[in-house]
Amino acid sequence: MEKRKSYYITTPIYYPSDNLHIGHAYTTVAADCMARFKRMQGYDVFYLTGTDEHGQKIERAAREKGMEPIEYVDGIVENIRKLWEILQITNTDFIRTTEKRQEEVVKKIFERVYEQGDIYLSQYEGWYCSPCETFFTERQLEDGKCPDCGREVELLKEESYFFNMAKYAPRLLEHIAAHPDFIQPESRRNEVVNFIKGGLEDLCVSRTTFKWGIPVPFNSNHVVYVWFDALINYLTGVGYLQDDALFNKYWPADVHLMAKDIIRFHAIIWPIMLMALDLPLPKKVMAHGWILLEGGKMSKSKGNVIDPRILVDKYGLDAVRYYLIKELSFGQDGVYSEEIMVSRINSDLANDLGNLISRTAAMIIRYFGGKIPAERSSAPLDEEIQNTARQVYLEATEKLEKLDFSAYLHAVSRLVSRANKYIDETAPWLLAKDEAQQSRLAAVMYTLLESIRIALILNAPAMPTLLERANQQLNLWDEPARVKWEEAGKWGLISLPTNVQKGEALFPRIDVKLLEGAGLPDTVPAPQPPAPVEKTVTSPVPAETKMVGIEDFARLDLRVAEVVSAVKMPKADKLLILKVRLGEEERTVVAGIAQHYAPEDLVGKKVVIVANLQPTKLRGVMSQGMILAASDEQRVEVLTVSPDMASGSRVK
Ligand code: MSP
Repeated sequence: MEKRKSYYITTPIYYPSDNLHIGHAYTTVAADCMARFKRMQGYDVFYLTGTDEHGQKIERAAREKGMEPIEYVDGIVENIRKLWEILQITNTDFIRTTEKRQEEVVKKIFERVYEQGDIYLSQYEGWYCSPCETFFTERQLEDGKCPDCGREVELLKEESYFFNMAKYAPRLLEHIAAHPDFIQPESRRNEVVNFIKGGLEDLCVSRTTFKWGIPVPFNSNHVVYVWFDALINYLTGVGYLQDDALFNKYWPADVHLMAKDIIRFHAIIWPIMLMALDLPLPKKVMAHGWILLEGGKMSKSKGNVIDPRILVDKYGLDAVRYYLIKELSFGQDGVYSEEIMVSRINSDLANDLGNLISRTAAMIIRYFGGKIPAERSSAPLDEEIQNTARQVYLEATEKLEKLDFSAYLHAVSRLVSRANKYIDETAPWLLAKDEAQQSRLAAVMYTLLESIRIALILNAPAMPTLLERANQQLNLWDEPARVKWEEAGKWGLISLPTNVQKGEALFPRIDVKLLEGAGLPDTVPAPQPPAPVEKTVTSPVPAETKMVGIEDFARLDLRVAEVVSAVKMPKADKLLILKVRLGEEERTVVAGIAQHYAPEDLVGKKVVIVANLQPTKLRGVMSQGMILAASDEQRVEVLTVSPDMASGSRVK
């Protein structure tokens, strides 16, 4: 049997000094997207994440709570594991630096590097920033404070072990020059190269001022410096010195993913440690930007951290992951706000992808009872869609390979938009009227369903429950979990007849009004909620009203609907919740007419509704259409037709 290619990806191991926020979730979700993509490509993937539990910062945090460090971190680590479950992170292993396996490997490595003379004992004097766990020289300080976080530093003098980094600097520079992809993005590579060229000082790799760490094996007055310990997790996690078969299979790592704050540790100290151990270097160290809030960085002390669990609860896993993955442009920072997130979810997922799927499914059901017939007549336009699908597949693949997550999802959106436009171009509702156009209509439905199949596969690494959920209506796959990436690169895999069924909206539109009072920073103005539910027709028509063509009007699906029940929306003066019947179908519509109609006056009336309006949630109730009404200064009058007009009839 052919051996599967392996792929090893890591996230930083996070400090369990506090619960994690969406910044940490970003890295972990992005790495997960990559792991899922590689698995779909057939790779044997090892995805490692974990926690970095030693050091003075954790020791202090625990003591402040009157706890032992291990007791303190155990609880937080549990929360972190739960968070990754909620986000459906598919990590292969979870490593904690307090585990026995890590202690053993760290001790062996420290000893070996010491014995070969690259670690030596000396005196250290320097400015120490405890939150950053980093020493600085006088020259490096900014206004006497930590150059990274701006906090107070303390002057420490201690006997320490030092790691001779300068010795390896020329080799590292050569490696970086010979492997342009090693440090990404390029701006970070230049920063790292300049830093190395500025001269590397030997690194202090032990501490005597506190105890919470792995003891230096031959001198128990010292504990190993937390970064020296932490970086080694990437080796321990795949069995270094403990499981040769595992280690040989996965090392060197394909990607270490992180944000730019810790690129130097990964692109300078870590490769030099590996050189000292005669081990091959990771293939890529990739630093993304930060997710910032309007007021700057997220931090517990500012009280402005965003908890990803709450977002998933409110908006759903797929939507939150999609937003995160799309948000940060390659290597750049991005600003988070809940309003921006909701508007992205509404436009990309509810309007574009969700709508494409629900419109297509509804048409296949309406025109062909869910089964697209085999007799199809294609047109040149169909080929254009096929070409777009092919290009988007290639581009999405290329962007993901480069870890350009945002560009990957932008590419996929292109296919979705193109397919939506194709619906307008082909106007299936017109084809449906003409018997002679049945086979053309079938080809249009097939082209749409194929585009959807491809778009779904391409979105799958970002949105783990998407295929399964979409499949409940579309029945495209026997086993959605086994779908391969390359299937998105092929056109025409859907075999006929199809079996499309009715289902719920995959991405219900989020009512931005729900954001009010959601405890958000009030610096960003909330986008305006959609227009009220009833359509008001004023007279006379203002001169500046834009003319529309008949094809624009034809896009509206206006129907006669019978009101079967009406109740007042609790705690809302203006809203009624109506149940209406359109032929066989029953729908809920929320209408802002409570001040003009008593609920019982409407029951039995035949009204006119916009039946293809994107569903939207109003005060928690999904409204599936809009009732037409005329209004003048005094009154609002719902448009009605005679009682004997069949419900479901078209209005045009
Ligand atoms: N323990 C070290 C890493 C050791 S790896 C051998 C550490 N931990 S951390 O908890 O501070 O996590 C830092 C990482 O969390 C960043 O590099 C990034 O991956 C992620 N992020 C934390 N805040 C973030 C944002 N606001 N935005 C994007 N990523 C963020 O450093």
